[in-house]
Amino acid sequence: MIHVKKAFVIGHPIKHSRSPLIHGTWIAEHRIDGSYEAIDVAPEALPAFVDSIRAGAFVGGNVTIPHKEAVFALCDSVDPLARTIGAVNTLVAQPEGRIHGFNTDYMGFLGNLDQNAPGWSDRRVRAIVLGAGGAARAVLVALRERGFSEIVLLNRTVDKAVALAAEIGGPVVAGALGEFASYAAGAGLVVNTTSIGMHDTRFEDLELGLLSRTALVTDIVYVPLVTPLLADARALGLRTVDGLGMLLHQAIPGFEAWFGVRPAVTRELRARVEATL
Ligand code: ATR
Repeated sequence: MIHVKKAFVIGHPIKHSRSPLIHGTWIAEHRIDGSYEAIDVAPEALPAFVDSIRAGAFVGGNVTIPHKEAVFALCDSVDPLARTIGAVNTLVAQPEGRIHGFNTDYMGFLGNLDQNAPGWSDRRVRAIVLGAGGAARAVLVALRERGFSEIVLLNRTVDKAVALAAEIGGPVVAGALGEFASYAAGAGLVVNTTSIGMHDTRFEDLELGLLSRTALVTDIVYVPLVTPLLADARALGLRTVDGLGMLLHQAIPGFEAWFGVRPAVTRELRARVEATL
């Protein structure tokens, strides 16, 4: 019997996913007898696809839009943090056809900052998170796990920030984007989780000049790689980390679970993916 370990990323559409490039690079680097393919799975085909994992067709894979929430109900076990984040992005096939789901986005967020801004969380003072959508959830969980003493969640629609802060719990307080100025001085970290920065959009009236000179500004948007927010922060002499590293780092735990090797995010890997942006 041939035992090629097959992994996947499913989504709908899926052709623009960079995950096959990331995992394909690691499979070649570690000479693994395996594969990682992008498969377009329409929502109505999701249960049948999950059945094929149960039947042994795959060791596991990644799940992206629009399946991250729907796949929950199809897992036999789900990691508690994935439950809090409200999305599963990684599946692992287990013995007896069982499927375990977890979420690696929060690990990607932490891994990116750990690699590119060493010491960023040593002081764990106030963090400001901009945006209260799906992407904010993984960032909030990551900052909570890392022990930040105060997480200020600012959103255009304040009600959404209030609801999410209550749901995540811990040190999260909610407010409006317009309140940035009153929280800026004591903040060590600013994270953009909104879609602002894509398609030539930019924040209006975000007074980055009020941040302390040691503050770190990071964005989860990675197209463009240097968003207007990051460009403005750099112009003020602040430390910045772009969002591409989060995409690269979120891939690590899945690869390790499927293929048994913990891969690294190298400069070469980053350059290969960056060339496709
Ligand atoms: P995702 O899952 O990628 O986070 P989402 O759930 O649609 O996407 O959330 C998008 C986030 O970007 C929200 O916080 C949204 O603010 P609202 O809750 O007020 O809609 C924010 N966002 C998007 N466009 C925005 C804009 N032009 N100005 C301010 N916030 C914006």
